[in-house]
Amino acid sequence: MFSGGPVTPSLIRLPNCRREPQPRMPFIIATDRNGNRHEVEALIGRSVMELLRADGLPIEALCGGQGACATCHCYIDPTWQSKLAPATQDELDLLGILDTIRASSRLTCQIPFSDSLDGLTLTIAPEG
Ligand code: FES
Repeated sequence: MFSGGPVTPSLIRLPNCRREPQPRMPFIIATDRNGNRHEVEALIGRSVMELLRADGLPIEALCGGQGACATCHCYIDPTWQSKLAPATQDELDLLGILDTIRASSRLTCQIPFSDSLDGLTLTIAPEG
């Protein structure tokens, strides 16, 4: 969990340690519905929805990631929006039924995590 402190450096060196420093895991910074920030370890190739759920964040994902329920709705930080592949028309249509839609809205099940998304920052949208 990430609670607002400084972000972990990419490599940690301990004095008198003979092992090579290990690169850190890629991560997502997610703000939950209570305003708490979490650093979520991320595996390449999993969807952002799967990663948030695996960390215990309250993403219902009722359709299991099929793009049919909109219960994985989040708001993407403005600095990251241009780094994502554009939403498909089906995703936009589903987002369009939500009262909580914003310009930054995305369905996290439709975002495959990749190296280029290391540090992706988002906020979980309200239920509804
Ligand atoms: S999990 Fe249902 S639309 Fe994303």
